[in-house]
Amino acid sequence: MAIMVTPSGQACGASVTGVNLSAPLSDTEIQEIRSTWLTHHVLSFPEQKMSDDDLERFTTYFGGFGHDPFFDPIEGRKNIAAIRRQADEKSPLFAENWHSDWSFQASPPAGTCLRSIIIPPSGGDTLFSNQHLALEKMPPALREKLENKIAVHSAQLAYAPDGAYGAKDEGRSMDIRPDESARKTQLHPIIRPHPETGQLGLFSCMGYIIGIEDLPQSDALPLLTELYAWQGREEFIYRHQWQADMLVMWDNRSVLHCATGGYEGYDRLLHRTTIAAH
Ligand code: SIN
Repeated sequence: MAIMVTPSGQACGASVTGVNLSAPLSDTEIQEIRSTWLTHHVLSFPEQKMSDDDLERFTTYFGGFGHDPFFDPIEGRKNIAAIRRQADEKSPLFAENWHSDWSFQASPPAGTCLRSIIIPPSGGDTLFSNQHLALEKMPPALREKLENKIAVHSAQLAYAPDGAYGAKDEGRSMDIRPDESARKTQLHPIIRPHPETGQLGLFSCMGYIIGIEDLPQSDALPLLTELYAWQGREEFIYRHQWQADMLVMWDNRSVLHCATGGYEGYDRLLHRTTIAAH
């Protein structure tokens, strides 16, 4: 049976049914999912009772496992991290700002898979912002300032020992392991073709982008701030509402994502894998 695809009606995202992710997929199903993913950028698969083995098998249909720095994996697995928040946790929310996963790597991951296990009754949506659309609709004056600019990426603001998840971050239930390697930098163009489709888009944003090559910080930071505000505009967003037993896969090369709160007093737990660049 061919998979069924229902677009979200928002800036990106589609729901996929008619496929059972707790069993091996056929080559045809994998091809269909890959091309649907490249079209809609974020796919959600509701009502999938998957194990961690199923999650790993699904991930490897789309590439190898990407390297997850700064997280300890869950017990007994090398490639699954827990996105966890406990009901009484007081630390700032994890990932509550726009980002493209691990964009500071030399070959940033193609995608991310997130399988929901415990989902609060309300809140905890994940937002996705379509960065092809953000570029397409960008005012020419802003685009002109960004053309041919190379961004300096680094994990230092988040994962260095003095970063947001560093020594001062207390009481977090996620297994985050900051270290000095977070200070390394890596260059990527701000406007670049998608590595598979060739479609131009904006890649990553301020946060993991800490500067612009050959621009003083006094010029780079206001430009990155202006870009960040543009990238997260409402018109580019798909708001994903979770249910338990749902798998979501997104394309880090074409969307930014951001966690949201609003579920104080409830646990939230998801298992995450990373799809390597290919
Ligand atoms: C993430 O950025 O991987 C987490 C997103 C979320 O918790 O909604």
